[in-house]
Amino acid sequence: MATKSTAASKTTFSKGLEGVVASQTVLSLVDGEKGELYYLGIPIQELIEHSTFEEIVSLLFFRKLPTRSELEGFAKELAHLRTLPNEILNFLTEFPRSAHPMAMLRTMVSALGLFDPHADANSREANLQKAKRLVAVLPTIVAAFHRVRQKQKVVHPNKVYSIAENFLFMLHGKPSPSEHVRALDKYLIMLADHGLNASTFSARVTIATESDIYSAVTSAIGTLKGDLHGSANQRAMEMFLKVRDPQKAGPYVQSLLRDKKKIMGFGHRVYKTEDPRAPQFREIAGDLCRGTGNEKFFRIATEIEKTVRKEKPIPPNVDFYSSLVLYTVGIPVDFFTTIFAMSRVAGWSAHVLEQLEDNRLIRPQAEYVGPRHQRYTPVSERR
Ligand code: COA
Repeated sequence: MATKSTAASKTTFSKGLEGVVASQTVLSLVDGEKGELYYLGIPIQELIEHSTFEEIVSLLFFRKLPTRSELEGFAKELAHLRTLPNEILNFLTEFPRSAHPMAMLRTMVSALGLFDPHADANSREANLQKAKRLVAVLPTIVAAFHRVRQKQKVVHPNKVYSIAENFLFMLHGKPSPSEHVRALDKYLIMLADHGLNASTFSARVTIATESDIYSAVTSAIGTLKGDLHGSANQRAMEMFLKVRDPQKAGPYVQSLLRDKKKIMGFGHRVYKTEDPRAPQFREIAGDLCRGTGNEKFFRIATEIEKTVRKEKPIPPNVDFYSSLVLYTVGIPVDFFTTIFAMSRVAGWSAHVLEQLEDNRLIRPQAEYVGPRHQRYTPVSERR
């Protein structure tokens, strides 16, 4: 860790803010030493087995597990908020087909704020309403852009289906197999929150200025878009597609490591041991791919993991095997990070609500390392 005290004051510089505690949260605990993840104190493994994405959103927003009737009411409320107003849908149809889906999503969330007369209301009640709407409507936006890009009719949301089931329905224009729906639901559960990751930090920084939740989520989407954060899932799948043959996976990765290139889907800032979500996705991806044309990609992934582990002590992270899950349920590769956003919007929104409960402007300092005591030279004298 590049940490040093600056001469001028007692402040400490830490490159990439590594090791800096920048906020307190009750939402999720990422135990990097033990390789454990909890939402509101509940181990992620138990949530994957027993919960649904709707229940996780409720847990993050209200900080307790809902009763059966609370959950039913909450899921119904989210289902009724799925529809995209026509003016927003029309806006989306004007976007370049070549636009990256994350750039599209960032712009659309910003546009939602533009059309919401209550965008700037910052009471908990007002933000909770907007948070529910964001969770509900992001899948509609993502699926609509895919349909528009494919020159297919936009499929309107179905209010009876769950978030995962409805999203696949709107994307493909027909119901998906139940194992695909459950795999996507587990994906949404596992990605919903993760401590003060880069995009959540962005959301908290933005809302801490007393801006608005649409701006906070727009900031977060822009941050998630990067390869070192959310786009690693897309890059991992692109690597599997490029390798094509399991026998070529080992030599391919060795050559990347020789060239000091990063292997997408490996490494983590916080986990010193394995990311607890990685083995879950390894198992889900293995089950989904077995006996299908994607089995080859699963074998490529396991070969890559074997080689990386032999060469460097860097385990896979959440994005490595989850990319295969997204691919197998039929999501286009350049849309992968938007699915991450569809889940993490629950965490971002919950952090926005939490930040505003005990807000203080987030404003770190920069250590100035540039020249001092320079004179201003008039432009006519400059060489
Ligand atoms: N492939 C190869 N080497 C990696 C690596 C990877 N994916 N991740 C880290 N390393 C190596 C670095 O090269 C560095 O080695 P060095 O000390 O010999 O120079 C060392 O491990 C520390 O890496 P660093 O990039 O400083 O760690 P970080 O805490 O800043 O980075 C990530 C964390 C996630 C940004 C980093 O692991 C990474 O870029 N991973 C690939 C992108 C990815 O999967 N992102 C999703 C994260 S959930």
